[in-house]
Amino acid sequence: MDEPVFANPSPVLSWVNEASACVTRHETGLMRLDAVAADILRIRFSPSGRLTPPRPWSPVLDLPPAGLAVSELDGALQISTERLTASLDLDSGTLAFSTPDGRRFGEDLSPPTWREVLLEDTRLEHMPEPELPEGEARIGVFLNKRMAPDEGYFGFGQRTGRLDRRHRRLTNWTVDRASPGHGRGDDNLYQAHPMLMAVQPGLAWGLFLNSTWYSAFDVGGEYEDVLTVFTLGGELDYFIFAGPTPAEVVEQLTRLTGRPMLPPLWALGYHQSRWSYGSDSDVRAIAQGFRQRWIPLDAIHLDIDYMDGYRVFTWDRERFPDPAATIAALHADGIRAVTIVDPGVKQDLGGDYAVADAGVEGGYFLRRPDGELFTGWVWPDASLFPDFCSAKTRHWWGDQHDPLLGIGVDAIWCDMNEPSIVDRPFRERGVCEYPMPLSVRHGDEGEALHAETHNLYGHLMARATWEGLERHRPERRPWVLTRSGYVGTQRWAASWMGDNNAWWEHLEMSLPQLASMGLCGSPHVGVDIGGFYQHSFGELYARWIEVGAFYPFMRAHTHCDSRAQEPWSFGPEVETLARVAIEWRYRLLPYLYTLAHRAHRTGEPLFRPLLFDFPEAGHLHQIQDQIMIGPQLMIAPVCAPGVRRRLVERPPGTWYDLRAGVRVGEGPLIAEAPLGGMPIFVRGGSILTLGHVRQSTAEPLTELTLEVYPDDESVGHWTLIEDDGESFEYQDGMIAETDMSIAALSQGAELILAARRGEHRPPPRALVVRLHLPDPPAGLILDGVATEDWHWDEPLKAAELRFADDGGEHRVAPWY
Ligand code: GLC
Repeated sequence: MDEPVFANPSPVLSWVNEASACVTRHETGLMRLDAVAADILRIRFSPSGRLTPPRPWSPVLDLPPAGLAVSELDGALQISTERLTASLDLDSGTLAFSTPDGRRFGEDLSPPTWREVLLEDTRLEHMPEPELPEGEARIGVFLNKRMAPDEGYFGFGQRTGRLDRRHRRLTNWTVDRASPGHGRGDDNLYQAHPMLMAVQPGLAWGLFLNSTWYSAFDVGGEYEDVLTVFTLGGELDYFIFAGPTPAEVVEQLTRLTGRPMLPPLWALGYHQSRWSYGSDSDVRAIAQGFRQRWIPLDAIHLDIDYMDGYRVFTWDRERFPDPAATIAALHADGIRAVTIVDPGVKQDLGGDYAVADAGVEGGYFLRRPDGELFTGWVWPDASLFPDFCSAKTRHWWGDQHDPLLGIGVDAIWCDMNEPSIVDRPFRERGVCEYPMPLSVRHGDEGEALHAETHNLYGHLMARATWEGLERHRPERRPWVLTRSGYVGTQRWAASWMGDNNAWWEHLEMSLPQLASMGLCGSPHVGVDIGGFYQHSFGELYARWIEVGAFYPFMRAHTHCDSRAQEPWSFGPEVETLARVAIEWRYRLLPYLYTLAHRAHRTGEPLFRPLLFDFPEAGHLHQIQDQIMIGPQLMIAPVCAPGVRRRLVERPPGTWYDLRAGVRVGEGPLIAEAPLGGMPIFVRGGSILTLGHVRQSTAEPLTELTLEVYPDDESVGHWTLIEDDGESFEYQDGMIAETDMSIAALSQGAELILAARRGEHRPPPRALVVRLHLPDPPAGLILDGVATEDWHWDEPLKAAELRFADDGGEHRVAPWY
């Protein structure tokens, strides 16, 4: 195999240490290393010696910088914070990083290099211009790092393929990879996350390439054990996260790029969608279909056909004569309405489409380099595109949602925002992708090329939408769903993975896809349950919805030409299975909502690979068909036809079968997995908080069950987090936090509930405590007093006790 050709050394000529930065001049170029925080370093290298000024739309937040100590030792600069050391070799100009206990990682094989690149050197496709724009857009910068042999490379956002991307070449460029659905070879899709997490047993670290230009990672693809980072734009700019656990890497990333938004509670319920429930009577019939069949539902999505000729912010008054009445009827049934909004504004000027005229008048739409309005083809035919890099445009766009909110719309679904543009009207044959020219200028000052900001188009549209909703309805937390996004979009939106297929392969692919998104700081994710393109079928749908009940965002959605995909569309047997799956979702809500709060605080993903919770266990790092849902649950989905049992790798610790309520044996196990019975396990030491089945979250929770699963040491902790589920008042103390722990007794274990903290008062409810024990006790003791009022559930091996939840301190213990 070819050896990599590495650049000549680039010795350091001089260096200065500023309070939290170290600047080095190299024989060629300048490097600046900033201690953004003790556990986050930013490294910038500019061949020209000039660093790009900060962009006002950057997804990176300003953090209070940390102190940096710099010393020269043995021909290297040691640049250290309390958590991280960077060693810069003065002769070669290469960097390496190390942990306080001396473990080296992320080592450069050579200093950064650069050269002029051509369009053909990239994987940019269907570009309307023959060349990259002149200037920095053509300067490609490269950096090679050594890959440790036992290191896996995770993250990289939304893609096809396996969880560990070693041996792959990955590009970062948002595209509508649609018809007829993305395949394994497609690599990058609608979102761009130039973020990797390297994990070896006991050490995780992260690298976020802070480039919104076209960029790529070669993860040991071309050269074994060499990670090549490449970007257009003439400057290398990346962050190193110290870890040392996967959870800390995600915490560091989301501290830097923003914590995930806290969704309203209803958004964690079940969503039903199709392209399209396209009339008032369709929408009402779907709602009734759920309510008559007692299948829980929290939201219905209205796809593009609610609009008048796909003009955004309008309604088709024939199909929806009184949209406010349609939505009021949904609300009366406890169902929320989500409407789609695309960025392309129909170029319908001088008529009665005020949005287009106002947009032109305000200067909100993008223009070609020659000053003409840029026009591209999308659903409404020739369309104009807002410049979301401009703060005034974002404000205007946000304001356009006010009438939708006035009608009662609860949330907005942003689509086609890669942006997706084609070369002719959609209804014509031979439609081809025809992206926006890279030379289009964005920003209030026209300061950036489309080549630089393309990857942020969806991200900034989601931001404009979220901010508009927040401004116009401040009493409710906005909920926005977006197709395109970048690192940081988690602050504004949930996302789905776009147009998948009703294929077993795409059910299977959803697992690494969503797990990778979580590692990139974007926890609120899902895929179209049942598949978007092609006709779904009973067994696939049943398997998909049982997994989908554990997706952080749970929605069934399908194409207009596909067979219906409501839970009852595949006959009574599948309907029952789908109902049970959705009911599980509702029972899990108190747990999932706590996980959403945890994600909001630290970025911790809800849906995550085993390596997240078991970073020391190298043998689990490659497993992508078992998923942890928070720290307490593990699911083992079935993604193939006819399979009714499967092998499950058992991570360290004690595990229980959730449905059977009993411990499972040591070592790997063969789990029964009948249709509707996907194996679900609970980690010993958990206190799983479950609700009762409700038809929607609009119904109050009147019973909270605490399922206690002691482990071998009989210890465990959990904090249940609750609030009103809707407003921002949790930020002002209207929150309820209940600490719970499991403590060892000489026989069995007791549950200790601390008094509830915070000002939020949940509605009156019963508490049901279920202690899962190997043998039935003689009785239960509540707060030191033996109680008569309990029973032993033999099949589930649990001692159950019920009492009113007064928010006070309580202890429940067995006696023998
Ligand atoms: C895009 C979306 C899909 C939607 C369709 C029509 O393909 O990804 O979810 O149904 O457009 O709006």
